[in-house]
Amino acid sequence: MGRLQNKVAIITGGSRGMGRGYCLRFGAEGAIVAVVYRARADAAQEVVDAITAKGGRAKAFQCDVTKPAEINVMVEAVVAEFGGVDILINNAGLYLFTPLEGTTEAEWDQQLDTALKGPFFCAQAAVPHMKARGGGKIINIGSIFGEDGFPGSSGYCASKGAIKQLTRSLCLELRPFNIQVNTLSPGCIETDLNKEYREESEDFTRALQERFGAGNPWLQPEEMAGTAVFLASSDADPVTGANVMVDRGYSAY
Ligand SMILES: NC(=O)c1ccc[n+]([C@@H]2O[C@H](COP(=O)([O-])OP(=O)(O)OC[C@H]3O[C@@H](n4cnc5c(N)ncnc54)[C@H](OP(=O)(O)O)[C@@H]3O)[C@@H](O)[C@H]2O)c1
Repeated sequence: MGRLQNKVAIITGGSRGMGRGYCLRFGAEGAIVAVVYRARADAAQEVVDAITAKGGRAKAFQCDVTKPAEINVMVEAVVAEFGGVDILINNAGLYLFTPLEGTTEAEWDQQLDTALKGPFFCAQAAVPHMKARGGGKIINIGSIFGEDGFPGSSGYCASKGAIKQLTRSLCLELRPFNIQVNTLSPGCIETDLNKEYREESEDFTRALQERFGAGNPWLQPEEMAGTAVFLASSDADPVTGANVMVDRGYSAY
């Protein structure tokens, strides 16, 4: 028996990076996994195949989380396929470099709509199904940059600061229904999200060095999954409204 046996988990951004890591680990823990992606159907299917090859149950669902109408269709499709929803990980994300001068309204909207509006409307669509099951877990993915500022990243940092307040407010609103809501905040993780900046941007590298000194802040995507399993499990029933940092202690400075 896995720690999440037969729990239906919707994991947005499940096709790549940390979301892929959550999907694989949740599948190994017995969860039935809805792998939600926006564009990379091939990557999402690879995650599904990896779970089913080990005897797990999973299916890919296409949905742009910036569009509430698509979210509603996706959640209803998950319920039709798997019978309900127990766990939602609001993980889909992107990092746009948004210096004050030069950032367009479309870029600002894309950053905030993906990282803040999406989680709100995913929760709105999933919660009635969690109530019907007598409870549930929502994990909103924050960031170390929900604590720190970072040059040229005001949109990203604002969205990650705001998601902690979304978590706290939903925690209180949903507490009577046995639904726990937490933020899981990664540090710096080597994924596609920052690949271009890690490899090509001197400004990004310089800003990281200023923030982290000579230390190596980078973690691998798989290193996040154990904490997500804990927050989704019954062991975490008393934990709600929290912000759990997984950053090797860098936010402690
Ligand atoms: N990497 C880091 O250092 C870091 C640090 C702290 C927090 N985070 C946060 O952790 C989360 C995952 O980041 P990551 O680094 O693993 O990202 P990633 O490797 O770039 O993967 C992003 C995922 O989000 C999906 N996605 C993007 N926009 C979407 C949309 N509008 N609708 C649905 N899905 C969408 C992508 O789907 P497709 O594959 O279909 O494109 C992909 O599965 C994000 O919330 C990010 O802000 C990352």
